Amino acid sequence: MDHYNTLMKNYGPPAFNAVQGKGLYLYDEAGRAYLDFSSGIAVTSLGHSHPRWVAAVQAQAAELTHCSNLFGIPGQQLLADRLVTQAGPGRVLFCNSGAESNDALIKLARLHGQYLTGAEGKRYTVVAAQNAFHGRTFGGMGATPQEKIQGGFRPMLEGFKFGQLNDIESFDKIIDESVAAVFLESIQGEGGVFPAEPGFLQELRALCTERSVLLMLDEVQCGIGRSGHFFAFEKSGVRPDAIGMAKGLGGGFPIGAIWVAEAYAELFQPGSHGTTFGGSPLASAAANAVLDVIEEEALIEKVAANSPAWHDALNALADKYPNQIDCVRGAGYMVGLALKPQGHNLKVTAAAREKQLLIVPAGHNVIRLLPALIATPEQLNQSVTILDEVLATLATAI
Ligand SMILES: Cc1ncc(COP(=O)(O)O)c(C=O)c1O
Repeated sequence: MDHYNTLMKNYGPPAFNAVQGKGLYLYDEAGRAYLDFSSGIAVTSLGHSHPRWVAAVQAQAAELTHCSNLFGIPGQQLLADRLVTQAGPGRVLFCNSGAESNDALIKLARLHGQYLTGAEGKRYTVVAAQNAFHGRTFGGMGATPQEKIQGGFRPMLEGFKFGQLNDIESFDKIIDESVAAVFLESIQGEGGVFPAEPGFLQELRALCTERSVLLMLDEVQCGIGRSGHFFAFEKSGVRPDAIGMAKGLGGGFPIGAIWVAEAYAELFQPGSHGTTFGGSPLASAAANAVLDVIEEEALIEKVAANSPAWHDALNALADKYPNQIDCVRGAGYMVGLALKPQGHNLKVTAAAREKQLLIVPAGHNVIRLLPALIATPEQLNQSVTILDEVLATLATAI
């Protein structure tokens, strides 16, 4: 029997079975080691099986795995305190994934609109960006104006409008009295690694404040150190009203979270939102271990220090292969190479895998490089060397 006959087909056939991970390396069943610059799509922030993380998860599993939010969870409280230290005065609510974080933010926007108007259903529009990706739930899909995400599932949840990332006028025009919140990825990930420019975020912040509209930032992919800051928006100096997190926060254990600024943190009241698993003792222990290691090993400082030379080397590749690389975008350890001709990102991804480098394709013909925050300058260089070999081989086929 075909081993994959019983799995639904939405992920397509896998290139290999992954059975082990250690640091920056992922191993297949034959013991072949791959330099992993996919990190489970920006999740394994400490690399695979970091000893500190493994010990914390094992110890917590032996102590208490799950008890629900009917009871207090000290590790969850500690994690909330730590996220508030990073994000600013406010409160945190835990869930299990990026899409769930974003759904919670969309619900927050509706509560805000209700608060402003004194009535339900009068002001609830969320303005998101063209080319965004916010997840596959009906809330997340509604904020993701892409045919490949929405197609087949209509009607969508209503109440979304879209501006053009980095074009403040396009937002200015549509933020009217029906709008409760603006919702953006600080760096668009799935859409092809497009950072929101600092000046744009600053102007958007001012616009949102002036019109009593929440500024909510999706840091699910770019957050928790990946950009060389704890949150990618920090570069702009802007403070959002709410933040969505997931992926790298758990380092491989599923957890999501929203942070909401003090002024809006009481919009959610007892009973108004919740989830069985959110912030369980085990998930909280995993995330606390991620934050411990980020601090103890100064990982964010290292990402910031190591990435300029890596970006330079990738830009040099762009100069060397102008027929294949259009440009290099991103921040820290979240980098996209926009390729040509059309469809080349899939070819390069497959050819890199043959040379034991794992990368991730993204929208707009982009390959994404998303190494764990522990990646060393040598490992970053190795990614460039392998890509150089791949592009040299493919050059003759163009
Ligand atoms: C920016 C962003 N938001 C939300 C999501 C959805 O997260 P999840 O797959 O954990 O539901 C993703 C996933 O890629 C993402 O990149």
